[in-house]
Amino acid sequence: MDIKKTLLTTEKLKPLYEDALQLKFGKMFTDYMFTMNYAEGKGWYGAEIKPYQPLVLDPACSVFHYGQEIFEGQKAYKSKNNEILLFRPEENAARFNRSMKRMSMPEIPVEDFLYYETELIKLEERWIPTQKGTALYIRPTGIATEPALGVKPSSEYLFFIILSPVGAYYSSGFKPCSLWVSTEYARAGEGGTGAAKAGGNYGGSLAATAEAMRRGYNQVLWLDSKEHRFVEEVGAMNIFFVIDNKLVTPPLMGTILPGITRKSVLQLALDLGIEPVERMISIEEVVDGIKAGKVTECFGAGTAAVISPVGKICFKDKEYTINNNETGPWSQKFFDTLTGIQYGELEDKYQWVYKVK
Ligand code: PLP
Ligand code: COI
Repeated sequence: MDIKKTLLTTEKLKPLYEDALQLKFGKMFTDYMFTMNYAEGKGWYGAEIKPYQPLVLDPACSVFHYGQEIFEGQKAYKSKNNEILLFRPEENAARFNRSMKRMSMPEIPVEDFLYYETELIKLEERWIPTQKGTALYIRPTGIATEPALGVKPSSEYLFFIILSPVGAYYSSGFKPCSLWVSTEYARAGEGGTGAAKAGGNYGGSLAATAEAMRRGYNQVLWLDSKEHRFVEEVGAMNIFFVIDNKLVTPPLMGTILPGITRKSVLQLALDLGIEPVERMISIEEVVDGIKAGKVTECFGAGTAAVISPVGKICFKDKEYTINNNETGPWSQKFFDTLTGIQYGELEDKYQWVYKVK
């Protein structure tokens, strides 16, 4: 697990951002990156922390042709006591490996994954913003690097980690966002790669997202690919509804990303006094429920987006407004509880917080 480190002299370090709250998501990167290579028959080798720099890759690398690429999304938080905290990073490491496996890529032992990312984060401590709502976003990524055009799993890979200081994911901040239901496009199909954090899932979703935006909505609300009827998730978040005072979210059936925020919200629900239910939800149930006053809240949950209240849903050219397009009490409660735990301000009953320092 030895890491070779190439460090910069202080004068060569980049200037920090001025106001972390104003940072655009994923636009600024820190001074260093982590890289490690893999070759068939040799395994993972050459762990290295070095100055952030472009990758030099052969144009025949399989990642460019057949999309063997997967990634993770995590955040490092700074507590008031100057600690560096991660939220359930073992879950990200485990999901990273499930995604790798799904894409026929080699896994990385969870302890090694955590060691590499924490070594990089400790070195980059000065980049972790301190205001509530800000964090250092962590992007571990795996790509196929064998220069070969045959359609087969690559025999070489690169694993890298880059870091980016971030403010809020949505420029609207903690205000309700709006969703457009796509009845034509689908994000994932049964037996496909929907449950993996594979880059191709996101590439395939961009056309629908562009259409949502053209129509004045922030994101797409995806339905199942078979019947275009059951709600699945949003581009970068899992979806929750408060229906008849129960917290309802679609079950994990292979087409949805198993979100770590989702899992945590489901676990926190009972503590906060609302019954969590995982079941299929048709879009008709959602819109009829909004009209009848049974669906009282909707929010998305994800690492980048945290808890994002949803104020409007557009389905078949009709717009439905939820809770007056205002942040509802449950969205607020889950946001406060989750961020309270993540920033080390609330009791960490389930030992979710991983102290880097
Ligand atoms: N769904 C999709 C498609 C995502 O990209 C994400 C973000 O990672 C999520 C859900 C939420 O997952 P998590 O809570 O693990 O960040
Ligand atoms: C995350 O929430 O970490 C994500 O990766 C979502 C998105 C930026 C792809």
